[in-house]
Amino acid sequence: MAEKRKGRVLIVDDEKGIRQALKMVLQEDYEVILAASGAEAVDAFTQNAFDIVLLDILLPDSNGLDLLKTFKETDPNTAVVMVTAVKEIKTAVQAIKAGAYEYIIKPFVVDDLLAVLDRAQEKKKLLQQVSYLKHELQRYHLFEKMIGKDPKMTEVFDLIATVASSDGAVLIQGESGTGKELVARAIHHLSSRKDQPFVVINCAAIPASLMESEIFGHQKGAFTGAVSSVMGKFEVADGGTVFLDDIDCLEVSMQAKLLRVIQEKEFERVGSNKVLKADIRFVAACNKEMQTLIQEGRFREDLFYRLNVFPIKLPPLRERRIDIPLLLEHFLDCHAQRTGKPAKRFSDEALAQLTAYQWPGNVRELQNLVERLFTITKSDVIGVENLFGLSIAGKQLHDMTLREAVNDFEKDFITQVLARVRGNRKKAAEILGIHRNTLLAKINELGIEA
Ligand SMILES: Nc1ncnc2c1ncn2[C@@H]1O[C@H](COP(=O)(O)OP(=O)(O)OP(=O)(O)O)[C@@H](O)[C@H]1O
Ligand SMILES: [Mg+2]
Repeated sequence: MAEKRKGRVLIVDDEKGIRQALKMVLQEDYEVILAASGAEAVDAFTQNAFDIVLLDILLPDSNGLDLLKTFKETDPNTAVVMVTAVKEIKTAVQAIKAGAYEYIIKPFVVDDLLAVLDRAQEKKKLLQQVSYLKHELQRYHLFEKMIGKDPKMTEVFDLIATVASSDGAVLIQGESGTGKELVARAIHHLSSRKDQPFVVINCAAIPASLMESEIFGHQKGAFTGAVSSVMGKFEVADGGTVFLDDIDCLEVSMQAKLLRVIQEKEFERVGSNKVLKADIRFVAACNKEMQTLIQEGRFREDLFYRLNVFPIKLPPLRERRIDIPLLLEHFLDCHAQRTGKPAKRFSDEALAQLTAYQWPGNVRELQNLVERLFTITKSDVIGVENLFGLSIAGKQLHDMTLREAVNDFEKDFITQVLARVRGNRKKAAEILGIHRNTLLAKINELGIEA
């Protein structure tokens, strides 16, 4: 049998005789550390983790109740057992209300003491397990919703965890639908601010004329129509996280005001001189190349640097293809669960074809497509026949020459056919009705991945 770890006990008592006696009794079963005063106790507590503290109520330099509070704040799982004389029982009861585990009355019977400590250690272990599980549960919920096995995504997950433990601003860059908002929420929920508000400000959707009042709030009578005072989003977010979505759409004049809030943590409501303070963690997102906007004078460089303390880049879905089948199946399950309908699955060929697709709308496009397929497919297996015409129908048109468009189409089409025949070029050439050498040339020319 593996040897059980000895519990660590801190004995806090100003009487040397009692400290020594307790040590004698406990040292066989516990690792014992002694403190003769409140100051010594706090010192020991910051240097070591304790399972149990045996705490005298009356100390020359401090009060046992205050110490109890300090210990509970530092490590809420430590079990504190108050040691008390009969005449201090009232205080001991108060201590229990303040979170002490138990009290024992001096002079004590050794067996009673050992029994109390045994239970205290058991309880500490349980508490520790509960807080660990709570933590895991939270992670599970978050990352359960966020699918990704591609190394590019696991890197992003690691970054989220790191960033969550700090308070610096975060700038998330990625194409539309890559999961920027999901990442912002994950950061908030893993941070110490998780019990405070997560407030979204959509810079693209709010008209510039309303933005200032939306963010800062306004005083009654500040402008026509301001019939009452209104709290702005920054006030609402105090202590929490503000997610500035599509930050590139923020007007230059508002950029200056935002910069001031980030630097000085101060602002005023529109129409008021009263300086307000808010403790906010900023997370911003954009789907454009910020450097270009800065060069064009459309985004303040100083604001960019303030926001870009922690940059997170979300790769487009086509650059993490191994995640595509995972996401497809994930959303299929989600949809079945939500609607209470029997589960469906994709045929291998359908999965291959969808994996080869370019996904210009990224995860959001994929999610919508899965919903559509789930609804319209009668059979419980979604096959290639159900995908007919999909890649072309779903394609976003952007400025390109005919030659580029044809190349784009050819590349997509050949990739899909190759996926369907699992890379067998002879078969693919047959299906495409071209010579094998022509296919090889096109694979090279168009940069099609094997
Ligand atoms: N890795 C992922 N795992 C599971 N679901 C995801 C993942 N990434 C994104 N999603 C889902 O895809 C949808 C789009 O994500 P989100 O809204 O975060 O994208 P976005 O980058 O903010 O897009 P936009 O730029 O258009 O605002 C959401 O429903 C989100 O839950
Ligand atoms: Mg978004």
